[in-house]
Amino acid sequence: MKSTDFLSIRDVSRDEILELFRIALDMKADRSKYADALKGKSLAMIFEKPSLRTRTTFDIGIQQLGGYSLYLSPAEISLGKRESVHDVAKNLERMVQGIMIRTFSHQIVVDMAKHASIPIINGLTDYSHPCQAMAEFLTLHEAKGELKGLKLTYVGDGNNVAHSLMFAGARLGVDVTVACPKGFEPNVKAYEDAMADAKETGAKIEVVYDPFEGVKGADAVYTDVWASMGQEAEAAERKKVFRPFQVNEELMAAANKDAIFMHCLPAHRGDEVTDGVIDAPTSVVFQEAENRLHAQKAIMYELMK
Ligand code: CP
Ligand code: NVA
Repeated sequence: MKSTDFLSIRDVSRDEILELFRIALDMKADRSKYADALKGKSLAMIFEKPSLRTRTTFDIGIQQLGGYSLYLSPAEISLGKRESVHDVAKNLERMVQGIMIRTFSHQIVVDMAKHASIPIINGLTDYSHPCQAMAEFLTLHEAKGELKGLKLTYVGDGNNVAHSLMFAGARLGVDVTVACPKGFEPNVKAYEDAMADAKETGAKIEVVYDPFEGVKGADAVYTDVWASMGQEAEAAERKKVFRPFQVNEELMAAANKDAIFMHCLPAHRGDEVTDGVIDAPTSVVFQEAENRLHAQKAIMYELMK
């Protein structure tokens, strides 16, 4: 991998993503093969937001590679308040061999990467969630085989997860349609960047306002919470706006017959997705969660070995 950090899907080329998938699947098939790959190396995990999957998969992932992790809670570091991002970077680079950060502003991970001499991994910002997108396209590949030419429709808020899915689709030649309410489109720069990347693979990246139109021809229907972490105060208002964008049995029926259902989790059952959809045999949500582990092990291995 050319990049020494993993801040965005845009940091990695198509070939590098495919190589990460190859390593991830190799690790998934035989965990013992990489048991000493990061022996004695440590990862600091900075969390300024809650997490189940990200924390567990990075923590267990580095242990399975022979290394250690250190969990730093929101109360501990208070990035940019108790101590500047620069100073945190300069401290940690002398103590650990990699840093995973989950935070609010994307600029924080960019600044951390600028100041730290060790690899920085983005574990979610308000702008993007690249590790999630890696796990998603790995799962889509397991479910459908060849990725190029597939269509994934994201239904809901044009948020961090939507951005990373657009970036990954653009790199891998997967069409990504975002179906969202007016006013909740993906960030304009994210859309333009994805469109620019898509020129190389021919992927179609589009935004539509009708969920039924959006899922037409979709091989995968994806959704995420209507109010992301940090938007709790808007949750009630958003529930009203997003109601027509619920992924339910009727909407799934408008996608391809063999379409799979995807969600990064946590899910708010009864809001963005019904029990009938998330619990159906076509739902791969827990496979996606497991693939966070394998995808991130491959990323840590490539960056920290
Ligand atoms: N999908 C995901 O990132 O889950 P957590 O917020 O639980 O880490
Ligand atoms: N968009 C969600 C994703 C959670 C994994 C959030 O940022 O809260």
